[in-house]
Amino acid sequence: MPARVVATFSRLGLAAAGAALAVAALSGSSLAQSATAAAPVATAADTAMVAKGRDLFANYGCSSCHTLADAGATGHVGPSFDGDANLTHDFVVDRVSNGQGSMPAFGGQMSSEEIEAVATYVTSVAKKP
Ligand code: HEC
Repeated sequence: MPARVVATFSRLGLAAAGAALAVAALSGSSLAQSATAAAPVATAADTAMVAKGRDLFANYGCSSCHTLADAGATGHVGPSFDGDANLTHDFVVDRVSNGQGSMPAFGGQMSSEEIEAVATYVTSVAKKP
């Protein structure tokens, strides 16, 4: 087997082990319970991503232009995210990366991991329309 394939398999193995650990960490009691309690944020990795996104949202000044109750943000320069029907993960990634009108592009300042995290955060905490 070529080395690259072996490396991919071992990485997948590590990821599976990580997911199993995350599920175990979520609940001391039963797996079934942790699955219900954790929805819509499914794994510990997602929880960490949301927490990271919450920090980024504050640090990059999203709060000064947007309203988002979870972040305590009450900006009115751009649309409110609470009740925003446009919000899909890919849409947020695109707007944050490329900007639009007076929305600045953050693609040059934020890494793609950071943009992913902020998009995960916004889409999971915004009040649904
Ligand atoms: C200087 C003010 C400003 C800052 C800072 C800012 N935005 Fe915006 N944002 C806007 C404006 C204005 C729009 C509307 C742009 C348009 O559609 O013309 C917008 C639009 C958006 C949209 C699309 C919303 C929709 O329904 O069309 C998303 C998503 C978004 N911003 C996310 C963010 C995130 C995440 C941050 C922080 C990384 C951020 N913005 C920082 C002003 C800002």
